[in-house]
Amino acid sequence: MRKRRGEVGATIRGSDLAQEFELIKKVCLIGDPGVGKTSLVRRFVYDIYDDKYISTIGAKVTQKAFGLDLPEQDLRVELSLLVWDIAGQGREQMFRGTFLKGLEGAIVVADLTRPETFTSLGDVVAYSERQPAYVPTIFLLNKCDLADPSTADLDDVNVLADAKKIPVLPTSAKTGKNVEEAFSRLGRMIVDRWQKNRERP
Ligand code: GTP
Repeated sequence: MRKRRGEVGATIRGSDLAQEFELIKKVCLIGDPGVGKTSLVRRFVYDIYDDKYISTIGAKVTQKAFGLDLPEQDLRVELSLLVWDIAGQGREQMFRGTFLKGLEGAIVVADLTRPETFTSLGDVVAYSERQPAYVPTIFLLNKCDLADPSTADLDDVNVLADAKKIPVLPTSAKTGKNVEEAFSRLGRMIVDRWQKNRERP
């Protein structure tokens, strides 16, 4: 199989028929303190969970690679996500600093037991709209082991998510529910965007 260099941050290996690509993409966990950002990434990357709450200090970057098959395009992508988890701090600081610079995917996390944390989705949408390119985004209602999503008031969330085509998933870092699914959904959206850009003349 022939190897080619691709865009910045990506190595491309290709042949004319079946193609295989390696991409490295920056994604950020965004949400209020204590919603479970660190726990989700620990569950996803190491498959572990801890009840202790140690607020994140500084920014932590964790890398996880997984394969995505796109049979309709005769394509396989080895996607490395560089998952950025920033210090437990207010949203304003998150949007003001350099943390989100070069963002290629957003995992917005809210705590299903604290409706006031749901509004982070609106902040992220507003931020994305100021960026030169669309940012693939998913919205996670974490701690679904503690509350039933069907009883939460999600009207505003659903209106915004439908309008912006943002998938909304209940997750639990504690039980692992939908954690893998959430990251692979985002991965697929990132690869779709990359694929569309690639096809542009
Ligand atoms: P900051 O670093 O302060 O921004 O917090 P964070 O968003 O990274 O939250 P963290 O992962 O540290 O979790 C906060 C607390 O919630 C911890 O006590 C976790 O054990 C707990 N927690 C996280 N996810 C879940 C979950 O899915 N279910 C339950 N029951 N508790 C959770």
